[in-house]
Amino acid sequence: MTGMDRPRRLRRTPAMRRLVAETTLQPRQLILPMFVADGLDEPREISSMPGVYQHSMDSLRKAAVEAVTAGVGGLMLFGVPRQEDKDADGSQASDPDGILNRGLRALVQEVGGSTVVMADTCLDEFTDHGHCGVLNDSGAVDNDATLRRYVEMALAQADTGADLLGTSGMMDGQVGAIRAGLDAAGHTDTGILAYAAKYASAFYGPFREAVASSLEGDRRSYQQDPANRREAIRELALDLAEGADIVMVKPAMSYLDILRDVADRSTVPVAAYQISGEYAMITAAAQNGWIDRRAAILESLMGIRRAGADMVLTYWATEAAHWLS
Ligand code: PBG
Repeated sequence: MTGMDRPRRLRRTPAMRRLVAETTLQPRQLILPMFVADGLDEPREISSMPGVYQHSMDSLRKAAVEAVTAGVGGLMLFGVPRQEDKDADGSQASDPDGILNRGLRALVQEVGGSTVVMADTCLDEFTDHGHCGVLNDSGAVDNDATLRRYVEMALAQADTGADLLGTSGMMDGQVGAIRAGLDAAGHTDTGILAYAAKYASAFYGPFREAVASSLEGDRRSYQQDPANRREAIRELALDLAEGADIVMVKPAMSYLDILRDVADRSTVPVAAYQISGEYAMITAAAQNGWIDRRAAILESLMGIRRAGADMVLTYWATEAAHWLS
């Protein structure tokens, strides 16, 4: 049996396994999504995401410093306006004094030099109907009218000094419209993190609580059908042609095949978003003692990296960064 192939030789000792590991997981590859809510004095825990908070302006700054000290590569900020400040157009999204833009300025001021500050560029948190765009007379999401609002929102966000704008609305032409708007206003250095393939997922459930969403119904007329794979390549090609600086696949864990497809074809860095429902599932199973929390978190992140993500948005970014450094 001298000729028998023995793969176990390379698994025998921790030193050998370390030597031959193909995929890395490092703090700089992790991005922390954060929520800042208007009118909060104290951070408020999100019940379906234990350990994740809607931040006050104060606690946002503290959590950002903690994340950056732990070495995370970036921060992605979402805004939660007061219910009474929502309207059909999501006006607060483009108001320099809206909660998201105030939060972005705070992040840029606090940690701007030491990490990458990213803004969610989407209307859903700010509209009273909860959709990612504005509606036409028959109640459908109006693609091109929404693009005009996205450009206004993008300009206000660029003015805060945010580095990257996360276009998460899945409107056709959003990357191109925002790129043109930014360039025309002289914001040529503001980049676009394009949600290229974003699926209509049940796993966004806890996020809807996190941002106090007003949505009734679903987003299937603009987010992708989970049945479709080829469509993700079409979306990727469009976002690249329109000027995306980084592209994203979302959710991550139920879409690892899509992530691999995108990573194999993209000419720019690829991100993946480990979303709220993925966080909630692992957290709940761990709380029940059904899985080893830390091992499950690290394995899930490694799997997303192995599938092709250069960077991963994860609500565990700070904690995982501590473990990894
Ligand atoms: C919408 C948006 C969503 C998430 C990020 N941006 C939810 C949705 O599309 O309904 C989900 C993030 C998560 O679930 O963690 N702009």
